[in-house]
Amino acid sequence: MPASIPPGDPQQVRDLFDRIAPAYDRLNDVLSLGLHRLWKRQAIAWLRPAPGQRLLDLCCGTGDLALVLAEKVRPGGLVLGLDAAAGPLELARQRARMQPWLPLEFRQADALATGLSDGWADGAVMAYGLRNLADPALGLQELRRLLQPGGRAAVLDFNRPENGSGFTAGFQRFYLRQLVVPLARRAGLEPQYAYLEESLRRFPRGDQQEQLAAAAGFAQARHRLLAGGQMGLLQLVA
Ligand SMILES: C[S@@+](CC[C@H](N)C(=O)[O-])C[C@H]1O[C@@H](n2cnc3c(N)ncnc32)[C@H](O)[C@@H]1O
Repeated sequence: MPASIPPGDPQQVRDLFDRIAPAYDRLNDVLSLGLHRLWKRQAIAWLRPAPGQRLLDLCCGTGDLALVLAEKVRPGGLVLGLDAAAGPLELARQRARMQPWLPLEFRQADALATGLSDGWADGAVMAYGLRNLADPALGLQELRRLLQPGGRAAVLDFNRPENGSGFTAGFQRFYLRQLVVPLARRAGLEPQYAYLEESLRRFPRGDQQEQLAAAAGFAQARHRLLAGGQMGLLQLVA
């Protein structure tokens, strides 16, 4: 396996996403056959965004979810996208400039220490972010703190299969090693994408995510499998 970036190191993770930012959206479309849009739609469906709401997109990257949500909170609402890395945020801002009517802001911030007040948000999403945080349990605590009581959150990410030798885990390994890494190599981003498998190794399984969310104070937490168990959607109510 190629040398990868160590997961959980905030500086190195930030550098990684700065490095892949220009290729990220294209590779995402190719590697998921565009299906990431479908999974993101499922996250939004759980959130039930409504006009006037204040919503957060944590680890927003190039702003896929924030842009869709901003359309849905009009009129009167606001979507704030936060990301630790400047590169993806610059692309998110460029995309937002194409639709200047959207109530949308992007800020550089760590999802573990956003600096926002308690209950700032009516709802929140985090797509493919939790796995990258130095401590996912702290990420869920910060997410809970930021939500109004009753507020919903959707946390979308790869699923770490329970049975490491089962079909789902085998398919995931094949997908990551035989498809993702070789394609990333062609884009000159092999270690950056080898990181994906490393980060999954330390990522809590679905049932563990539910427990961490309950410990963080969420009233409801349910981890739903998507894409035949390749992806997971943690559906939360504060
Ligand atoms: C895989 S990308 C996902 C981007 C976007 N949410 C999407 O689904 O397309 C993960 C993002 O999380 C950001 N990130 C990693 N660690 C972070 C942290 N501690 N706080 C905020 N953002 C972080 C990265 O910079 C990167 O843009």
